[in-house]
Amino acid sequence: MNTDQGKYTFGVLTLSDKGSRGEREDTSGAYIKDKLLADGYKFEAYSIIPDQKQIIIDSLIELTDKQKISLIITTGGTGVSPTDVTPEAMKEVIEKEIPGMAEAMRAASLLKTSRAMLSRGKVGIRGESLIINLPGSLKAARENLEVVLPVIDHALEKILGGTGDCGVE
Ligand code: MTE
Repeated sequence: MNTDQGKYTFGVLTLSDKGSRGEREDTSGAYIKDKLLADGYKFEAYSIIPDQKQIIIDSLIELTDKQKISLIITTGGTGVSPTDVTPEAMKEVIEKEIPGMAEAMRAASLLKTSRAMLSRGKVGIRGESLIINLPGSLKAARENLEVVLPVIDHALEKILGGTGDCGVE
């Protein structure tokens, strides 16, 4: 849903078992919210939920199909520990994958840490919503978000069927 300001709505979904029990402050979710607000996006939703596949699926469907939020940024659960299931939930939710955005985040992140290759985060489209997975730590969320932020506006314009010229920066 486009807003009156011509910018898009966004929601932040933090995936963390500890966070959902109130045992860890969600600095990554707070950072993402502040960063997108500063960039002119309109804040619509925030929740912190445990790393459980069905809960993640249900939350993403609520934010996309029901709340019609344009941009959903998740943080956490992209790695290789037994509880990390964000990509598995994404597989069941997204209708189109945008592998280039996820690979761009990994490529840029590899210049900062070799551990970047452990993130299995995805980016995809459901309906008219763009869903972006970021890793969970504040450092990783910040380093990954800065890679995709410059293209999000254009991606959303295209997702909504915009026919603007792609050659113009
Ligand atoms: N990407 C960047 N840019 N910077 C980081 O510090 N940490 C990595 C990786 N991606 C990192 C990063 C690490 S250590 C892990 S385990 C994976 O993201 C997955 O993180 P998650 O399980 O919290 O989603």
